[in-house]
Amino acid sequence: MISDYHRVTFKTIGLVPTMGFLHEGHLALIEKARLECDIVVVSIFVNPTQFLPHEDLDKYPRDFLRDFHLCKSAGVNYIFYPEPELMYPKDYFTFVNVEEISNRLEGQYRPGHFKGVSTIVTKLFNIVKPHKAYFGQKDAQQAVIIKRLVEDLNIDTEVIVCDTVRETNGLAKSSRNSYLTEEEKQEAAVIYEALIEGKKMITDYKITDTESVKNVVTNYINRKSDKIKLQYLSITDNSKLTEINDLKKYKGDIIISLAAYMGNTRLIDNVSFNYKYQ
Ligand code: PAJ
Repeated sequence: MISDYHRVTFKTIGLVPTMGFLHEGHLALIEKARLECDIVVVSIFVNPTQFLPHEDLDKYPRDFLRDFHLCKSAGVNYIFYPEPELMYPKDYFTFVNVEEISNRLEGQYRPGHFKGVSTIVTKLFNIVKPHKAYFGQKDAQQAVIIKRLVEDLNIDTEVIVCDTVRETNGLAKSSRNSYLTEEEKQEAAVIYEALIEGKKMITDYKITDTESVKNVVTNYINRKSDKIKLQYLSITDNSKLTEINDLKKYKGDIIISLAAYMGNTRLIDNVSFNYKYQ
């Protein structure tokens, strides 16, 4: 195995797991891995087990040649690009699930999604054997789950979470943004603006009742856009993702996260910051 060879020659292996159709968000993870590791592996695999039956598995954007060239210019050493049959052969029975945390936030609306994510990430870790693996804060719950998975299953990989990369208008970069028209992309900037308003309520205006903060975020979106439909909005801690009601009793990292539809396209975003009541 190539990973064994690099490990015995004391090379640090960094893995960036992706589903391809790479954008600047992915490239930022690759760049960080390049800085911190000797060998950078990017996996490109549209993982069927993390899509629900009605979701966009078939129409998820794919362009391997484009991804290949982007990886090459970014200095990636290996691309792992398996066929689905290699990852899930005919008699496949084993899944990994991080209980409880996987059922919250996204998990309420995408049941089973994180079981698919946890399974494929475990398999990628076992195949690539990375010293470090890079994930984006854009998918805040995914990052929390992977950290928990690594700790609970004693996996010898350090999980590194990188900031969300955004368009100049604030919209978080995402492969699924390719489903949006230019106009929709402009209007979707409202999502991040609303999250920033929510954060300001807490950090600048010292509002401690999270229900009021959520009202401000919701009203901001509804006032500025009639195309964006909020699916959920949560204010939670950053380790178990439990809802915080009264910030007077809270100290630590906070995530304000949401999912919203812009037409048929489901977008997620969040802001995260450290908090202490004073
Ligand atoms: P994918 O959506 O391709 O994202 C791959 C990685 O890029 C994830 O860690 C994600 O959080 C990060 N990422 C996406 N958009 C980002 C942005 N705007 N800024 C910073 N990082 C960003 O997430 C997945 O694939 C899959 O669930 C995967 C982990 C590969 C398992 O199948």
